[in-house]
Amino acid sequence: MKVIAINGSPRKKGNTYQALKMVTDVLEQEGIEVEILQLGAQEIKGCTGCNACFKSRNEQCIIKDDSVDEFIQKMKEADGILLGSPVYWAAINGTMKSFLDRVFYVAGANGGLFRHKVGAAVVSVRRTGGIPAFQTLNQYLQYSEMFMPASNYWNVLHGNKPGEVQDDVEGQQIARILGKNMAFLLKAVEQSKDLLPAPENKEWTSFIR
Ligand SMILES: Cc1cc2nc3c(=O)[nH]c(=O)nc-3n(C[C@H](O)[C@H](O)[C@H](O)COP(=O)(O)O)c2cc1C
Repeated sequence: MKVIAINGSPRKKGNTYQALKMVTDVLEQEGIEVEILQLGAQEIKGCTGCNACFKSRNEQCIIKDDSVDEFIQKMKEADGILLGSPVYWAAINGTMKSFLDRVFYVAGANGGLFRHKVGAAVVSVRRTGGIPAFQTLNQYLQYSEMFMPASNYWNVLHGNKPGEVQDDVEGQQIARILGKNMAFLLKAVEQSKDLLPAPENKEWTSFIR
C-alpha cells in the first residue's frame, strides 16, 4: 500500500513538511510506503474552467507546463492521499489552491479517480486561520468520495519559523494519531475491497436541473 503526501508550502522543509512527516513516519512504521511530493515552489496556473478535461476524459489537464498531470497519475495509483498546506491569509496557500482545483476537477471529470481511496489533510499555522484552511482541504477529499480518518482534534499544527512545529507537543500527538488512524483505515479498506458496492454514477445538476 502506498500514500502520496503533497506539501503545498514553498518551504521544502518548513512546518507543513514537518507536520506531514509526523504523519508519514507513523504510516511507514505501519508498513505503508510513502512518497512526499514537493509542490509549493512550482508555478501552477489556476483552473480556467475550460472544461477540456470533461471533453477529453484522458485524465489530463489541458495546461501543460507543470507537474499537474504527473501528480494526478501518482495520486491515482496510490491507496491514500495526504494533503498539507501552510495557512496564508486564513486559507490554504495560492499554489496549493491552483493545484488542487485542477487535479480534483480532472479527477471528477474522469469518473472519480480518487473515489474510495483514504484521504486526510494537515495544515500548519502561526496563530489563526487553521480551521478554514483545514476545511478547504477536506472539501476536495469529501467531494471525491474518499474515506477520511480523523485524529483526536482538528489537524492544525502551530509554528511560524521552519521547525517551530516541533514545539507543538499537542500538534505532534494529533499528527501521530492521524497517522495511526489513517494506517488502520488503509488496511481496513484494503481488506474489504471486494465487499464494497459498485459506485453509483454522479448526478450533475445546478440545484434541480
Ligand atoms: C503570505 C503568508 C500569509 C500568512 N498568513 C497567516 C495567517 O493568516 N495566519 C497565521 O496564523 N499565520 C499566517 N502565516 C504564517 C504561516 O502560516 C506559518 O509560518 C506556517 O507555519 C508556514 O508553514 P511552512 O513553514 O510550511 O511554510 C502566513 C505566512 C505567509 C508567508
